[in-house]
Amino acid sequence: MPGTLSIDVTSIEEAYQEFLSEYPEYNTTLSLDELRANEFSRIDKNGHTYLDFVGSNLYPASLVKEHQEYLLNNVYGNPHSINPTSSLATKYCEQARNYVKKYFNDIDDEYVVVFTMNASGALKLVGESYPFNDDSYFLLTADNHNSVNGIREFVRNTKASFAYTDIDQDTLFIEQDKLNNVLSSVDKKNKLFAFPAQSNFSGVKHDLGLIDKAHEYGWDVLLDAAAFVPTGKLDLSVYKPEFVSVSFYKMFGYPTGIGCLMMKKTVLSKLKRPWFAGGTIAIASVKADDHYMADNEVGFEDGTINFLNIPAVEMGLKYLEGLGLKKIQDRVFSLARWTLNELLSLKHDSGVSLIHLLGTSDMSKRGATITFNVRSKDGEMVFYEDVEKDAMTMNISLRAGCFCNPGADEAASNLTIEALRPIFETGEKLSYARFIEQVKKFTRGAVRVSFGHISNFNDAYKFVSFIKTYLNR
Ligand SMILES: Cc1ncc(COP(=O)(O)O)c(C=O)c1O
Repeated sequence: MPGTLSIDVTSIEEAYQEFLSEYPEYNTTLSLDELRANEFSRIDKNGHTYLDFVGSNLYPASLVKEHQEYLLNNVYGNPHSINPTSSLATKYCEQARNYVKKYFNDIDDEYVVVFTMNASGALKLVGESYPFNDDSYFLLTADNHNSVNGIREFVRNTKASFAYTDIDQDTLFIEQDKLNNVLSSVDKKNKLFAFPAQSNFSGVKHDLGLIDKAHEYGWDVLLDAAAFVPTGKLDLSVYKPEFVSVSFYKMFGYPTGIGCLMMKKTVLSKLKRPWFAGGTIAIASVKADDHYMADNEVGFEDGTINFLNIPAVEMGLKYLEGLGLKKIQDRVFSLARWTLNELLSLKHDSGVSLIHLLGTSDMSKRGATITFNVRSKDGEMVFYEDVEKDAMTMNISLRAGCFCNPGADEAASNLTIEALRPIFETGEKLSYARFIEQVKKFTRGAVRVSFGHISNFNDAYKFVSFIKTYLNR
């Protein structure tokens, strides 16, 4: 236990003034403090320090109220019929769909938007529909969320092959030479390359130029943008991956249960759903034992869409536009830079640095996410779960572990296949706790904090003060 955190009001005020002069762009974001006071008063009322914006964004009260009013002021029936309540629901869902295209700047109308439960639902649709056979190949970066890694299990059940491409142990960037070698040498009809726009593990931003590079060699690209779009601009008129996955609660906090898969229309003809459901077919016959799938997004949306909540997506996107991405970025990057610099300056009296940063320290190449290990004065790693538990006692919400991204963790920890394979060969289905026991001696795991549009200096200051309690221990 690090003990109680006592923060002196004068010292925080002094630090804040210094911060403002060092990061003048933060001054242009002060309206977000007002927003926090008006729309997010529940954070400070409950004494929370919320630093898990990659996990989930927080929602403004007005978004919930606007949606509630929308629901309470009219009658919405199951969409896609012509009756009045159904037409109304269809109208607002289609309006939201078009707004998603507008938000991501699909100016040439090249994409369809398929509403899913979340980013994982979007990724699963790609995995189950892509033509994996003896003339296809799946390439993915070691840095990927498990919901992308899981696509390999669809591949495993076919005659297609898959392979991982490495990330650098220190910077956690994709190793470009190795990637280029694979991109240029695989000779298959259908080739799918998957990478995250921003790592949910380290926060590093991968080069979106890889999309064009992969296209040059005839690959289809799956861009997992879930961790990138809450603070980054994905412009589909510039970058045109075949598939993009997002979760909307990560962008504006509400509602949960809706994400989308944006798919380039040109790729639709090669996809085949493994089944059909209510809503996905143009026609189906029992006696003739046959069916035709519906065109475009309809063929991918199983059953009744989340028609009551989908209209809130348009409201959420408008909310973000109202704030402006520039303001959000100035806010989160000033806070993240300050925090990173503070953390990197901390040393035990023994001379050992308190923090081991994972991924590049170049803030222009990472999002507002900082992932690190805490070191003891003897240079030992403090177990990440202990840091998380200590943070809990101070009402600080941060994350610890590998964040569903084992590949990035394994690279950062330099874990070898020799260390890992035996764990899977005992025949014993390990619980996560037992797995951690086994790998604890090898894996670093990590602690992650991430800032969002209504984070403030107090959050950053409180967090750094918390980390300082590990000094000389
Ligand atoms: C990069 C990335 N991809 C995919 C996901 C999965 O998102 P969801 O759990 O909303 O399906 C996450 C969640 O944290 C993520 O950060």
